[in-house]
Amino acid sequence: SSTPSPDGKKVLLAAPRGYCAGVDRAVDAVEKALELYGAPVYVRKEIVHNRFVVETLSARGAIFVDETDEVPEGARVVFSAHGVSPAVHAAAATRSLQTIDATCPLVTKVHKEAVRFAADDYEILLIGHDGHEEVEGTYGEAPDHIQIVNGPEEVAALEVKNPDRLIWLSQTTLSVDETMETVNLLRERFPNLQDPPSDDICYATQNRQGAVKEMAPGSDVVIVVGSANSSNSVRLVEVALEYGARAAYRVDKADQVDLAWLEGARTVGLTSGASVPEILVRDVLQLLADQGYTEVQTITTAVENVAFSLPKNLRGDLKAAG
Ligand code: F3S
Repeated sequence: SSTPSPDGKKVLLAAPRGYCAGVDRAVDAVEKALELYGAPVYVRKEIVHNRFVVETLSARGAIFVDETDEVPEGARVVFSAHGVSPAVHAAAATRSLQTIDATCPLVTKVHKEAVRFAADDYEILLIGHDGHEEVEGTYGEAPDHIQIVNGPEEVAALEVKNPDRLIWLSQTTLSVDETMETVNLLRERFPNLQDPPSDDICYATQNRQGAVKEMAPGSDVVIVVGSANSSNSVRLVEVALEYGARAAYRVDKADQVDLAWLEGARTVGLTSGASVPEILVRDVLQLLADQGYTEVQTITTAVENVAFSLPKNLRGDLKAAG
């Protein structure tokens, strides 16, 4: 619903926003596992980086743990969308855990690239945030062949074994622009640096940033719904500022919106990260409508129709259960 407001107050709503195919599948995997096997179902790490999703699944019987050694012998555990290193699979096997691997297929793709290029004796420069779960998982595939590069500022001091056998890969949820800046600096230093066979920054990350780039210049304030540990959500705030929003803020949900942000703002841009349920965006839209922002204009820059099927063993069990 969209009604022009008398004082010209308006919301620009980015599309695409919110759930990507990998998040949708991971959340669905936990829900289906709860229905099929009953509670509790253990989940290693946050299934996706969103507080509301984790709280909702906890209430339904999911138990979130940091490591597999907190899961009882033989119990069932779901691995999160961000992926795990081979060491985590091995640790789960020694405790006879029944694993459901909800790693996003687009993260698995990067793991496979790392394995393949390490086997071909390449050194891999993995652009990504040190300490992020996805980066830990990918790094763990070939620790002797991988160096993590956090960003452009780390390029100058980098030392490599053989500059002629070098490839870069990346985390799936980075800023497209900043990553290209890092790659350009890397290439200045190592002209024979090879590119990945295909984009590692996933379609969902690229599309959400693309919509914000279109929306930000016309927005006085941009609000991004997403959790603080959600890499792609945090990147959306940065992109909004780079592309001309006067101010940009991240909120977990509507009650974190500070009304002072809206002072003097005619146009508010709104989007959400890839792990954010749409209901949280609806709540912010309602709050904005209450403040007079009744006109909503959707800014669509891409249409997505990606879907991933559930993890194979879960699919099999669901089928057997009829
Ligand atoms: Fe996968 Fe990209 Fe979402 S890597 S989990 S589709 S943000």
